[in-house]
Amino acid sequence: MGRLRHFIQPQDFTIEEFESLFRLANDILSNPSNYSHCCDGKILASLFFEPSTRTRLSFETAMNRLGGRVIGFADPAASSTTKGESLGDTLRTVEGYADIGVIRHPKEGAAHLATKYLTTMPIINAGDGGHQHPTQTLTDLITIRRFHQRLEGLKIGFCGDLKFGRTVHSLIRALKRYPNNQFVLISPEELQLPEYMQNEIKETNYCEEEDLSEVIEDLDILYMTRVQKERFVSEAEYERLKDFYILNEEKMKLAKEDMIVMHPLPRVNEISQDLDSDPRCVYFKQAKLGMYGRMALIMKLLEVEI
Ligand code: NCD
Repeated sequence: MGRLRHFIQPQDFTIEEFESLFRLANDILSNPSNYSHCCDGKILASLFFEPSTRTRLSFETAMNRLGGRVIGFADPAASSTTKGESLGDTLRTVEGYADIGVIRHPKEGAAHLATKYLTTMPIINAGDGGHQHPTQTLTDLITIRRFHQRLEGLKIGFCGDLKFGRTVHSLIRALKRYPNNQFVLISPEELQLPEYMQNEIKETNYCEEEDLSEVIEDLDILYMTRVQKERFVSEAEYERLKDFYILNEEKMKLAKEDMIVMHPLPRVNEISQDLDSDPRCVYFKQAKLGMYGRMALIMKLLEVEI
């Protein structure tokens, strides 16, 4: 058994390690029955201190499909956090029960902090506040490879809440490692990409824009996001910004035939439901692909093979 590995942010894995995850995810997708016992006897702890549908259910399904079992909570109100237990104590306890953990937490840096308490259990960051969400990135990269057959030389528009949208932060960190990608950051001024992230992409070709219609025609990928209501201090500010972008048929007419629309989901109003039947809108396929990526990730961190 090698050094204990965690997955807290995309850079924790090299490009080559991501490649091997893509290959494994692909093989699982093609031959699922070959993998249905490879985690027999293993237990995944699913520690969700913040709401989730896709991330939690896809991790839990992933472990079930690998033959393992799942313990955990979907709501901190059902854990001893309400009694005042610290994150460190919860983790040290869970480490005694489970082989691998998945944590989502409202505080930025919580998943990184978690690694400080652990000595035997690998932990996966399923979202820490408005900071990072690396398994959504794994999902996103698998989706991009499936529809564009490459991760380089792409023009990607990120649209919506680039300030609080952790999926955007993680995907940018991953895509900037591949050559010739261009980022178009589409947001109102109030929701621009934070400065620390802008500093990270100084060497990458990027621009900021407010008007989606002005830039949509050149994009290979349009990554739409929800305005992150739960991160706003002012309800009025959220109300003012929440419908800033609504992708509809009229705007999609301007886009390329092979542009894909991605979204980490949940969607609120930012993509009109009329577009769901447009083959370029791949967000539900994206959500499904994420499950195979998570199966591959669990196998890698547990160091299991078939
Ligand atoms: C995202 C998240 O939790 O950051 N959802 C997800 O995991 N697919 C995006 C969001 O909540 O808007």
